[in-house]
Amino acid sequence: MPDDLPKSTAPRPVTLITGGSQGIGRAFADCFAERGDILYLVARNENLLRIAADELKNRWNCEVHIAAIDLMEHDATSRLMDHIERQGFYVDNLVNSAAIAFIGSFGNSDPKDIKALMQLNITTTTELTHRSLAGMLKRGRGGVLNIASLSGFIPMANLAIYSASKSYLISLTRALAEEVRETPIKISVVAPGPVDTSFVKHGGTAVQSFAPLLTPASVARMSYEGFLAGQTVITPGFLGAFSRLGIKIIPHAILLRLLKPLLNKIYIE
Ligand SMILES: NC(=O)c1ccc[n+]([C@@H]2O[C@H](COP(=O)([O-])OP(=O)(O)OC[C@H]3O[C@@H](n4cnc5c(N)ncnc54)[C@H](OP(=O)(O)O)[C@@H]3O)[C@@H](O)[C@H]2O)c1
Repeated sequence: MPDDLPKSTAPRPVTLITGGSQGIGRAFADCFAERGDILYLVARNENLLRIAADELKNRWNCEVHIAAIDLMEHDATSRLMDHIERQGFYVDNLVNSAAIAFIGSFGNSDPKDIKALMQLNITTTTELTHRSLAGMLKRGRGGVLNIASLSGFIPMANLAIYSASKSYLISLTRALAEEVRETPIKISVVAPGPVDTSFVKHGGTAVQSFAPLLTPASVARMSYEGFLAGQTVITPGFLGAFSRLGIKIIPHAILLRLLKPLLNKIYIE
């Protein structure tokens, strides 16, 4: 991550999108670019970041910066945020989209996978939110859009750490939204069902036979509009709203039993 930009006198605002090279994060980049934001995209694969940046510049004639960084590294937040500030920017909007998941029984999981998931989905996401929000509170403007999942509303056997990490994110966002309620800062969490991205590529076809997949573009568009409207918890699409209602009224003990064989069928068998 070389400091490749001259510092301007006053820091300029950027919309920072983790996981901005692909999938839902990439689709959010279109929404924020369309309204003229300067984008700052982060992911590990530099080549894919460059491709995304070129597409966005060609399509929206916007300013796009990239940083290839592994957000699973323990010091990723300070390295990234220091780098952004050294380049003469501040984070005006933050979209936390990068996350990982793995399927299988918790007891048989590799401790390295557990640690990596917790580092990215929980620790880095929280640290980025904290550091960005501190600046937003001082400036009295900005917003955070966290990408959780419908699985964050219920405990899920064989997807235990992932669904727990998304529960954490929903809970964190709800609390923060209340903390900033009387300020102009917007904080939202998106909880989509299955979306057609590389995230579900292994089980994608099978998922599709149970539920139609949403497109990343439609998820991003509906969520972006909800975010601007000040909605705290956004469940995109009819299936999202329907599932959330079902999760509210059906006891979790029953849902846990119903979803376990479904997940096994989709991902494990
Ligand atoms: N797809 C679904 O069905 C679905 C459903 C509900 C919720 N979600 C949530 O939506 C969000 C986005 O998922 P997606 O479907 O868009 O996934 P995706 O298409 O696989 O994109 C994931 C993005 O995150 C980046 N990323 C992954 N690990 C990273 C790391 N260690 N450091 C930095 N960047 C990293 C990836 O780039 P690199 O690999 O190059 O790093 C990529 O840009 C996630 O939070 C996911 O939990 C997805």
